[in-house]
Amino acid sequence: MLKRLKRIAKNLLAITWIRRTYEAVNRLFLETFGSSRILSHLFFVFSFLTFNREQSAVLRGRRNYYRNKRRDRVSRVELRRNVHRLEKGIIMRPRRDVFARDYITETVEFYEFAAEQCKRAPDSMEPSEMQWAHNVLTEYFRVNTGTHPVVDAARARFQAIDFVPEGGERVPYVKRRLSDVSYEQIHDLAMQRRSVRWFEQRPVERELLDKAMLVARQAPTACNRLPYEFRIFDDPEKVRTVADLPFGAAGYAHNIPTIVVVVGKLESYFSPRDRHAIYVDASLAAMSFMFALETLGLSSSVINWPDFEPLEQKMQKTLGLDVSDRVVMLIAVGYADPDGMVPFSQKKELDTLRSYNVLRGE
Ligand SMILES: Cc1cc2nc3c(=O)[nH]c(=O)nc-3n(C[C@H](O)[C@H](O)[C@H](O)COP(=O)(O)O)c2cc1C
Repeated sequence: MLKRLKRIAKNLLAITWIRRTYEAVNRLFLETFGSSRILSHLFFVFSFLTFNREQSAVLRGRRNYYRNKRRDRVSRVELRRNVHRLEKGIIMRPRRDVFARDYITETVEFYEFAAEQCKRAPDSMEPSEMQWAHNVLTEYFRVNTGTHPVVDAARARFQAIDFVPEGGERVPYVKRRLSDVSYEQIHDLAMQRRSVRWFEQRPVERELLDKAMLVARQAPTACNRLPYEFRIFDDPEKVRTVADLPFGAAGYAHNIPTIVVVVGKLESYFSPRDRHAIYVDASLAAMSFMFALETLGLSSSVINWPDFEPLEQKMQKTLGLDVSDRVVMLIAVGYADPDGMVPFSQKKELDTLRSYNVLRGE
């Protein structure tokens, strides 16, 4: 018995020693290579696998962006972005007589491609997107009062397109509506929303999920691209398959009635400078989604999705994702079990979280 205890103590000491040595070496590396950008670069030359999936996803996304331009699609990101830019030009104060000279030709071309698709394969594209694009382009040519050969040529080309989607009024407008929601109400909602991990074993109505999605899609996104998808699973077997993938739901995955995989679409960008936007945009939508769920009597919890190769491979296979698709997070959704507990989760103090007018050295 004494011998066994001695052996256990020896093993524990060895484990502690290995852990401490690993931590010391790790720290030495971080102190050294984290001290300058050049050394950081050197570190990643040798440790290239760390961000390889992300790098490959960004490149694949950019490749797909250009490839997709000539493909039929439900929604056309390049058209969305440019129509959004036109809208910003239309609302500019003061508005210039001639604007968007550098991208109006390509915008009309994007619209032309979309119109060809709509004629060839009716209903294959979102009608609302086509109406918006058509209405904004019409408004653009109406308010461009100056003359410029590029704009004049684009106008003629636009007018020659023999496809006019029905429906109007999707153009910039004066926003006069003020909120009926009081500060107290939104604060109460924020206090009410907690990460809930224990749910009643009953299905979540799809109408409610769709209602929450209608709120989610109103969240702001860079250039109004909406570069994400909410992949919702409510079939119990599929929920289990998906909920078992992340580490973060261990211990409660089995009781999740509905799970959402929020996927960012890197094919929405031609430039690596925007690679972060999927995370920002999808997260803003996810927050709106969760607040909306609360108002519908539902609860939720975010589940972390780490950039960890074995998990990424499994998720990619399970959902049939493209290399350029990045999982941003998972969200468990359901009716809260009235007996289930939630952590208190103390928030940081206001003074820690925000500051006003602090510049360097102040
Ligand atoms: C990006 C992100 C990842 C999270 N990952 C997990 C997770 O893997 N498992 C889990 O149970 N909760 C997870 N959560 C929930 C947090 O633990 C929770 O939001 C936090 O403790 C604050 O609690 P509250 O949401 O109730 O205010 C995550 C939340 C976020 C925003």
